[in-house]
Amino acid sequence: MAADQLEFIEAWTPETGAARVLAGYADRFGGRPAGVWAAPGRVNIIGEHTDYNGGLAFPIALPHCTYVAVAPSGNEVIRLASAQADGLWQVAMPDVAPGAAAVAGWGSYVAGTVWALRRRGLAAPAVVGYVDSCVPFGAGLSSSAALECAFAAACRDLGEPGWADTLPARRVMVEACIEAENQIAGANTGGMDQSASLLAVAAHALLLDCRSGEARPVPFDLAAAGLELLVIDTRAPHQLNDGQYAARRATCEAAAQALGVATLREVPLSGLSAALDALAGLPDGPVAVKRVRHVVTEIDRTARFVDLLEAGRVLEVGPLLDASHESLRVDYEVTVPQLDVAVAAAREAGALGARMTGGGFGGSAIALIPAGAGRQVASAVAGAFAAEGFGAPAFLGAVPAGPARRVA
Ligand code: GLA
Repeated sequence: MAADQLEFIEAWTPETGAARVLAGYADRFGGRPAGVWAAPGRVNIIGEHTDYNGGLAFPIALPHCTYVAVAPSGNEVIRLASAQADGLWQVAMPDVAPGAAAVAGWGSYVAGTVWALRRRGLAAPAVVGYVDSCVPFGAGLSSSAALECAFAAACRDLGEPGWADTLPARRVMVEACIEAENQIAGANTGGMDQSASLLAVAAHALLLDCRSGEARPVPFDLAAAGLELLVIDTRAPHQLNDGQYAARRATCEAAAQALGVATLREVPLSGLSAALDALAGLPDGPVAVKRVRHVVTEIDRTARFVDLLEAGRVLEVGPLLDASHESLRVDYEVTVPQLDVAVAAAREAGALGARMTGGGFGGSAIALIPAGAGRQVASAVAGAFAAEGFGAPAFLGAVPAGPARRVA
C-alpha cells in the first residue's frame, strides 16, 4: 500500500490536548474548568494476562493521552461530555454502586473512580468534566484506564488540601482506579493498565511484579540500539467486559486453587509439567492446562526479556516476543485473525519480533523494528490486511512517555 495512504495516529502536544478540552468544556458547560489533566494509554511490551496471576508485566506509557477539563460540580451530580460520545452522561453519586443500572456506559469509569477514591476516605468531589482523547478507543491501548487515571489525578488536586502528588498517593489512585473498573465498570481486569498510566517514567518501561506490588522503572531506549516500536491498531473490535476476559481469569484462579497455591505465580517453570499433569485429569482439565502453560511460560519470558534488556542485549529479544504471541494464540486463545496477520506481516517485513499486546480479542499488536522502518513495515501490514479483506489498520509510534499529570 502507498505510504501516503497509511494512517498514523499522532500524539497531541499537551497544549493541543488542553486547548481542545477547554474549548469543548466552554461549549458544553460554559466558562472555564478548574484545570486540565492528562493520562496516557499504554502498550505492554511483554507479560500478557499475567497481572491477575500475580506475575510480571512490562508496559510503557504512550505519548498518546486522554485529556479532561474538570471542575467540582458543586453538588453530588457528575456531569460529563466527550468529543468521542454523543450527549451528556450524568449520574448522582448516591446512585453509584456495584451493579447499579444508573452507571452504565463510558461515564461509569469516571463515576467509579470518584466512588472508589471516596471509599478510601479521600475527599473526591463529584465533577463536571469534558473529555477528548488521542488514545484510540477500543484499540487495546487502555483508553479506559487513561480515562480513570486522568479523573483520579483531577480529583486528587481538587479534593482535600494535603493530598499531594506523591508516589504513595499515586499507588492509592492505582488501587482506586482498578476497583472502579472491576466493581463499577464491570471489567474484571488486573491492574497493569492503571499502574502504567499513573506510575510510568518517561524513557523507561515499568517492570510490574504483581505479587509484591513493586513497579520498577527500567531504562528502555530502543533508539540507542537502532530500533523502534511500531504499534498496529488492527481496528478489530475489542472489549473486555463481554465475558471472554473474565472466563480466562476464572480458569486461572480455579487452576491455582486446584493446585493449592494463591496464584499461578507460585508455579515455577521447573514445576510446570507436574502442575499440568495434576490439572489434566480435572473437569475442564485440557483448557486449564493450556491457560496455565501460557501464564507460567509468559512470566518466564518476561523475566528473560528484562534480563536481556538490562544486559544491553536488546537485539536478542525478538524471539521472546514471537513466542509470547504464539502462546497467546495457541494456549490462551485470545488472538483474532487480524492480530495473527499483523504480526506475520510485520515479521516478514523485517521486524525482529512481534506480538499482540493488551487483552486481545482484537485490539493492537506491537512490532520491534529497525529505526526508520516504520512506514515500510506499516505498508506491508496494510497490504496484508487489504489482501485478506480486513479493514485498514492504523499505526502509532511508541516512545515511552510519562504518567498522568496536570497540564493546565
Ligand atoms: C487488559 C487488562 C490488564 C491485563 C491485560 C492482559 O489490558 O486491563 O489488566 O490483564 O489485558 O495482559
